[in-house]
Amino acid sequence: MCGIVGYVGRQKAAAIMLEGLKRLEYRGYDSAGLAVLQGDGITLVKSIGRVAALAKLASSRKLSGTCGISHTRWATHGGVTDANAHPHVSSDGQIALVHNGVIENYVHMKRFLLEKGYTFKSETDTEVLANLIAYHYAKQPAVNGEGSRFLEAVRKTLLHVEGTYGIAVLSPAHPGEMVAARKGSPLILGVGEHEHLIASDVSALVSRTQNVVYLKDGELVHITPAGFTLSTLDLADVSPVIDQVTWSVDEAELGEHPHFMRKEIFEQPLALENAMRGRFSADGSSANFGGLNLTPADFRTIDRFVFTSCGTGWHACLVAEHLIERFARIPVEVDYASEFRYRNAPLDRDALFFVISQSGETIDTLAALREAKRKGYKCMAICNVVGSTIAREADGGIYQHAGPEIGVASTKAFTSQLLISAMFALYVARMRDMSFADGVEYIAGLKAVPDLARRVLEQAPHIQNIALRYAKYNDFLFLGRLSLFPIALEGALKLKEISYIHAEGYPAAEMKHGPIALISDQCPSVFLVPKGELFNKVLSSMQEIKARKGLIIAIVPENLELPEGLADEVITIPDCHEAALPILATIPVQLLSYYIAVARGCDVDKPRNLAKSVTVE
Ligand code: M6R
Repeated sequence: MCGIVGYVGRQKAAAIMLEGLKRLEYRGYDSAGLAVLQGDGITLVKSIGRVAALAKLASSRKLSGTCGISHTRWATHGGVTDANAHPHVSSDGQIALVHNGVIENYVHMKRFLLEKGYTFKSETDTEVLANLIAYHYAKQPAVNGEGSRFLEAVRKTLLHVEGTYGIAVLSPAHPGEMVAARKGSPLILGVGEHEHLIASDVSALVSRTQNVVYLKDGELVHITPAGFTLSTLDLADVSPVIDQVTWSVDEAELGEHPHFMRKEIFEQPLALENAMRGRFSADGSSANFGGLNLTPADFRTIDRFVFTSCGTGWHACLVAEHLIERFARIPVEVDYASEFRYRNAPLDRDALFFVISQSGETIDTLAALREAKRKGYKCMAICNVVGSTIAREADGGIYQHAGPEIGVASTKAFTSQLLISAMFALYVARMRDMSFADGVEYIAGLKAVPDLARRVLEQAPHIQNIALRYAKYNDFLFLGRLSLFPIALEGALKLKEISYIHAEGYPAAEMKHGPIALISDQCPSVFLVPKGELFNKVLSSMQEIKARKGLIIAIVPENLELPEGLADEVITIPDCHEAALPILATIPVQLLSYYIAVARGCDVDKPRNLAKSVTVE
């Protein structure tokens, strides 16, 4: 939610920030703005709409300043207007600020500031911060030089703030300086040659530097072209840890693809290979996870796993539940992170927690992790973004290594979470009753997945043709059973979020308990057909739909034959190990949603109302 880029150095800040903002647009795209210090003051450019609109506006202005802050917004407080776009400037013109997060006690602070004579132009909570910093700055005597006065004003303000923030602040009284701070919203410092950057995500920094410092909650940084100092809100100095970003800027480029979603769907074979790399045991019968920081003896004491996540990650949790219970026979509970954090659920004494998050910044998932830890449980994270808040706060975890996922609709991160869940199920199953031979067979099944995924992707033109025929419908059902039920949910979510079509996912047999009322020749059903004992049961559900003139798109393992005429469209997936089936069945529903959204002219990578990382409640 919202992206921040700030620059302090020797180059013109505006161009650098605009490039960074383009990479952060997935975090919000309602409006964008930038401020640079030049002359004696702040030059401000803001526009509703995308970063491209801001860039156009900025090109008509003379922006030569080498110190600036910028923002792309996902609206929380106040509608999508120029006035509500960031940066916000204090009414005395002394402070400019960009903010990602929500200030919960802003009403109270605004009242206080109005009494002190400060005025407001926007409906945002953020403008309150700008004015409050200006207030503290005006009151603040110079301590150990002017730079400290600026830093101190920000620090004092933040002591009064309830809520979440990642902020970057400038003052015309302090040219060549920036103060940034975080609590609950990500913020990363890029350390370059005679320049420093601040951003919500490394993708906005990597074109200038691969050396980064991940700010922690409660930390402030004072930045100049020559250096930076890190401290906490209670004035303790912090020794910075400089990390190296392992991926390059090319990985966050579209390349030959028209959309990031398409690129990321096609990157899945590679992402799946990366998820497995180096993670099988030497004897070839189990998995290895160095980052879990737990011994096999620790695992023996665990009698339940609790998985929590949001959105697509929650669907991955449901698949993990199925696989762990099926192969390791250990009970698994799955909860929405947003519910778990408030539910005060009774928990088993020896439960182990897992959170799943691509971004590692989803606020509800982070809150669930903190709640589990507060109760004294160990909490593991399955995360894609290295150094993210969730990855850092978890007691251990498994990195996905799927590479940057930019499209708002999660694709490669999801299938990589499914594969990691399958490997984890194997890991714990081999500590219980799974035999060596079954472990070896299971691994062979997983190692085959990247190539099998390539074979599914070869069907893209066929799926595109189906999508063109079905793009006109406004209601869809997605139906599956057991491990394919979460994939039905995921298919429905993908279609909803990028094409705005109403879609619902159900266990196939539940369909006759209500959703069947939706069926007509205007509501197609996408069936995820399993092999094994439930094959015939699912065929019966399909017959029930056909009897009501419903259209059927069937996703079927290639060695199974459907009765003639039962399905209107058939997409096959290669025969595979049971643990791999959800992964391969996901790819057709991703492609179907993608091509339907494209056919309907939707903005696939930036669907309306959504943002990639939901860092506000
Ligand atoms: O970054 P996270 O995995 O924590 O994100 C969780 C959800 O916000 C995310 O999966 C969302 O549902 C996606 N838009 C789904 O495509």
